[in-house]
This record gives sequence, structure tokens and C-alpha cells, in this order.
Amino acid sequence: MKTILDVDGLSFAYGRKQVLVNINFSVSEGESLGLLGANGAGKSTLLWCLLGLLRGEGSVRVFGERPGASACRRVGVVFQNPEDQLFMPTLAGDLTLPQLNRGIAPEQARAGAVEALGSAGLAACAGEPAMHLSLGQRKRAAIALALIQRPELLILDEPTSELDGGSVRHLVDLLRRLPVSKLITSHQLEFLAKVTSRIVVLHEGRIVAEGPAEAIVSNQELLLRCGLI
Ligand SMILES: Nc1ncnc2c1ncn2[C@@H]1O[C@H](COP(=O)(O)OP(=O)(O)OP(=O)(O)O)[C@@H](O)[C@H]1O
Ligand SMILES: [Mg+2]
Repeated sequence: MKTILDVDGLSFAYGRKQVLVNINFSVSEGESLGLLGANGAGKSTLLWCLLGLLRGEGSVRVFGERPGASACRRVGVVFQNPEDQLFMPTLAGDLTLPQLNRGIAPEQARAGAVEALGSAGLAACAGEPAMHLSLGQRKRAAIALALIQRPELLILDEPTSELDGGSVRHLVDLLRRLPVSKLITSHQLEFLAKVTSRIVVLHEGRIVAEGPAEAIVSNQELLLRCGLI
């Protein structure tokens, strides 16, 4: 199976604060990998390193390239904080822009945006700015934004935080049907086990376990030791 994301010996420090230590893992084409870790374990920092937003020591390859504009065009991201991604005067504008950047005609791009917002249960909010939405609605809009970019690799940082039960169920169905490769962080063990096949556990900046999703989320000793239950 082709490797689309490869992390080899990655370490990162914010100034003198060492946050990631010798991280090694890879994601194969079509695979859905979970990244599990307590608050402050380094999950978001790791994702930022993968996207080239932070640079550490060691090697990161996304589709065989160093993280940068060309590799990242093939990656759809939902950041932990949806405000980082939704900034146009209207939600429809937020979802239209990436399609225009891909060369899609304006009319078609706008129609695509409205349709995607409808699928996310946000049709009534299409003309409003993201800041007028609830946090859960913004999260759903950010997920719709990532998907409209037709990514080959989807990176989701805590996608279910703030989502209600129905929205989580909808997201589980969607992710299970989506044939793209995925890297997903979440504190919701049940959710992570449903949408990933393998999980890597990060504890205080180090990978301390890796294995089949079901085995990891049922390993009470490991979860307790890593502050996850
Ligand atoms: N900009 C920053 N400057 C300095 N330290 C930072 C910065 N951002 C994060 N950190 C520190 O890096 C560590 C890892 O943070 P990170 O946000 O990656 O954790 P996380 O696993 O995503 O946590 P959470 O589950 O709360 O989202 C924490 O100790 C945090 O205080
Ligand atoms: Mg985080």
C-alpha cells in the first residue's frame, strides 16, 4: 500500500519547551488513522508540523513532498478552532472561495457551496457570517469546507467537540463512507473507534502505543496511564 504521509524522527519545541519527541508513524493510502492523547499531549502541534505551519527537526513527507503549498492542496483540514478557517462575510463565501481557487466557474462554485451547506444542515445560514453561528454550527461548516476541497487526505482535529449527538452520528456515517485517507484526533473514544482502524497514542509528546483502534480504546490501563479516562 502506498504511503501518503510519513513522519520520521520528528521533534518540536516552542522555544525551550519540548513538545514533540522523536515521532514516527505513517498513513497509507485509504487508511484512517486516529491520534489519541490527553489535553496538552501535543496533537494539534503535531498536525501543524504536518501542514508545514510549524517546522521541527526530523522529516515529514506529505504525498512524498515536504509540507508546503503543493502537497497541502491535496489535504483538507479542520482545525480545532473553526474561527481559523471561516472568515468571509458569508458562509456561502467561505465555501465558494476554495472552489474558485480550483478553477471552478463562479455559478457552479456558489451552487456547490449552497448544496454543501444544505448537507451540513446549515442552508438557512448560508448568507450569514460564521461569527453569527453557534460553535457547533461553525464546526459543521468547517467540516463542510474541508470536504468541498475534495481532499485526498483529510486531517480533522477534534471534529466532534461541540457537536450534538445527531451531528456526531451524521459525521460518523459521512466519514465511514468517504474513501479518502484520514488522520483524526479526538477525545471521544467511541467516536474514534468507529471512524479509524488504527490508533497512535501520544503522551507528553511521545508515541507510547499504536495498534488496532478497538484494542487501544479498550485498553483501560493504557488509557488511565495517559489521562484519557
Ligand atoms: N504557541 C505556543 N507556545 C508555547 N507553547 C505552546 C503553544 N501552543 C501549544 N503549546 C504547548 O504545547 C503543548 C501541546 O499543546 P497542543 O495544543 O499541541 O496539545 P493537544 O494535544 O492538541 O491538546 P488538546 O487536547 O487540549 O487540544 C502544551 O503544553 C501547550 O501548552
Ligand atoms: Mg489540540
